[in-house]
Amino acid sequence: MNPFFNFTENSGIITGNLDTLGSSFVPEKLPHREKEIEHMVRILASIMRKQRPSNLILYGKTGTGKTSAAHHVTKLLSEATGPSTKVIYCNCQIYDSPYSILVNIVNTIKGDTEEQIPSLGWPLDRIYLELMGLLSREGGALVIILDELDKLILKNGGDSLYVILKIIDDSVRTITSIIGITNDAHFIETLEPRIKSRLNQESVVFAPYNADQLRDIISYRLKGVVKEESVEPSAISLCSAIGAQEHGDARKALDLMRIAIEIAVREKRDKLTDREIYEARDKFDMNVVREAITTLPLHSKMVLLSTIISQETSNGQITTGEIQENYRNMAVELGISPLSIRRISDILSELQDYGLLTSITKSLGRYGRTRFFRTNGEISHYRKYLLEDEVLSSFKGSRMVRQARFDSIDQDEAEKFLGNIRDSKPADD
Ligand SMILES: Nc1ncnc2c1ncn2[C@@H]1O[C@H](COP(=O)(O)OP(=O)(O)OP(=O)(O)O)[C@@H](O)[C@H]1O
Ligand SMILES: [Mg+2]
Repeated sequence: MNPFFNFTENSGIITGNLDTLGSSFVPEKLPHREKEIEHMVRILASIMRKQRPSNLILYGKTGTGKTSAAHHVTKLLSEATGPSTKVIYCNCQIYDSPYSILVNIVNTIKGDTEEQIPSLGWPLDRIYLELMGLLSREGGALVIILDELDKLILKNGGDSLYVILKIIDDSVRTITSIIGITNDAHFIETLEPRIKSRLNQESVVFAPYNADQLRDIISYRLKGVVKEESVEPSAISLCSAIGAQEHGDARKALDLMRIAIEIAVREKRDKLTDREIYEARDKFDMNVVREAITTLPLHSKMVLLSTIISQETSNGQITTGEIQENYRNMAVELGISPLSIRRISDILSELQDYGLLTSITKSLGRYGRTRFFRTNGEISHYRKYLLEDEVLSSFKGSRMVRQARFDSIDQDEAEKFLGNIRDSKPADD
């Protein structure tokens, strides 16, 4: 029989569209975020009275519903005010400079009916004046959602936010306000006082979901997507428990559920049980890490590989200095000019943001404070994915000392090696 016919049968489990479990779908309701939503509504309600609201900053770990809540609340606001309120969503990973954010705002306000301004070529002050012109003409309200706001500041410094906050003060006729979203709880403290005071924000904290809340969220999101009786309650509980362990991440819990359903459908199983959730978790962890590692820029891969090598030789947590030394040797062997110590330090922080590394800062008494790193996942997987890179695949570790060539070594020897590295300080910085 033609093997394709095996796949034509409709699954007995699915009744709706599995894609609605994905991150880009904004559900009608957000269970367990009623308080946060109400807080946001209370602040933005000033717009109904034609007054400028405080800016909002939404904080919380990944998958806690910040982006969804911002979309949800601004949708309600638009429904309440009609077209006089414009909402502009900017993800600062994509629109990563004040320039590109302003162009995005101008072009969104202009819409299809007016000629768009080019994404490059105009000086910033011309774009700014164009925007001011539009805002003095439009009236109504403008809410700018700046998602992943910390990335904008990290890349361009606090002044980039200053430029955007200036729009709020300078716009005549249109009430303008900002909803900033960030994972970084210390974000505000990093801003200069003049920017901090101008931000004049109300903070809304999105606490991690617990397992019970995640169970409600998953059950709600599964409605209309799968047959209720085909999902065992214990599978939902297990999925919620895993999500809760991962800092209360609804995205992870929903992704796991989606993958588990896909597995059940593919394997033609008529019930979703714990088994499918476990299988999904194994698949998920591998996929996410692989995707994260293989898409890193080359120098980030080199820093990560250096971390692994250092970790293998020191059998535990390692210092930035050790990683830098191995990175430098690797760069020489590969004939690549190495980045500055400062940049390596930034890359280590980025790798931490991606969840690939963890660090702790320890005080070493009179030697000051030092960051210690370790990898979060299985080292052998990390290495395998890194060596898929064409450049790194030729890396032999010839300039690394013996134990760094992925051989297992004895602890005394490792100590001696690390001692040598610590003594031989790099030439620059
Ligand atoms: N209370 C909730 N009810 C239903 N679905 C939710 C809820 N909270 C989050 N989700 C879903 O979980 C996923 C992640 O949510 P969202 O993207 O809003 O998180 P986030 O806090 O913005 O995360 P990140 O910091 O990673 O951007 C989305 O698919 C969203 O629909
Ligand atoms: Mg988000």
